[in-house]
Amino acid sequence: MYNLDGRSALITGGAVGIGRRIATRLAEEGCDIGIVDVDGIAAEETAHAVAATGRRCVVLEADVGDYDQVQGAVARFRDEFGKVDIVSNNAAIVTVGSVMDLAVEEWRRVFRINADGVLHVCKAVVPHMVERRSGRIINTASWFGKIGKPNYSAYSASKFAVIGLTQSLAAELAPLGVTVNAVCPGTIVGTRMRDAADEKSVQQGLPTAKERESLIPIGRVGVPDDIARVVAFLASDESAYMTGQSINVTGGLWMH
Ligand SMILES: NC(=O)c1ccc[n+]([C@@H]2O[C@H](COP(=O)([O-])OP(=O)(O)OC[C@H]3O[C@@H](n4cnc5c(N)ncnc54)[C@H](O)[C@@H]3O)[C@@H](O)[C@H]2O)c1
Repeated sequence: MYNLDGRSALITGGAVGIGRRIATRLAEEGCDIGIVDVDGIAAEETAHAVAATGRRCVVLEADVGDYDQVQGAVARFRDEFGKVDIVSNNAAIVTVGSVMDLAVEEWRRVFRINADGVLHVCKAVVPHMVERRSGRIINTASWFGKIGKPNYSAYSASKFAVIGLTQSLAAELAPLGVTVNAVCPGTIVGTRMRDAADEKSVQQGLPTAKERESLIPIGRVGVPDDIARVVAFLASDESAYMTGQSINVTGGLWMH
């Protein structure tokens, strides 16, 4: 366990899946939590799970693709907790299909949430973190942000953008007391995104996540907790000398 007592953590996409586990894990470490998500109902369920740990949780219903909404959510978070110590930029969507079948509007929809969304939150929190000479930003990218795969062009390109932004921002903020890192999950089951991608795979005659399990060197698919514990490490003082890194959490599926 990492001692994060008294810190406040804002998590986007914390209503379900990996983000929900990041929220509860950081709460178990001692953080008060803010959930930024479009799904307010599911976010309330996460808030109950956080409350069960004894920490406070505020639900901030907002679309990360809308800069004004993000600024409003961050302002409400600061009103509630006074400061922003940790940000987990985790909200994203996926689209599956060939480049030739991909509508330009669909590409833009994915970028608006997956890439612009990360930028919006960073722009809203960084001045405050720099003023305090303290902050941890952890972006959820993907191993598809390091290698393009068929049928995932928009998603993959948006995650390459997240890694590029992570590195650029890390270099800018390194002298100012703020670290910026990314986690790159592999095949993580038990999330809405994974269920949707599997459904599409079945329709297209492609293997599901479970059917690809034998390709994973560690021999199992991942679960949200595998990602959350790395986020907790990157949020803690134990990772003080790390910035600009994009850490694979893939069971050995990807090693670069
Ligand atoms: N599940 C995997 O196998 C896997 C693999 C690699 C990377 N990832 C990444 O992990 C992160 C979490 O994925 P997950 O599998 O838990 O997905 P999920 O679909 O279960 O959860 C995504 C969350 O983001 C929220 N969200 C979507 N659009 C939003 C918007 N515009 N504004 C605010 N919130 C929004 C959703 O409501 C949901 O709560 C994502 O960044 C995803 O790209 C997942």
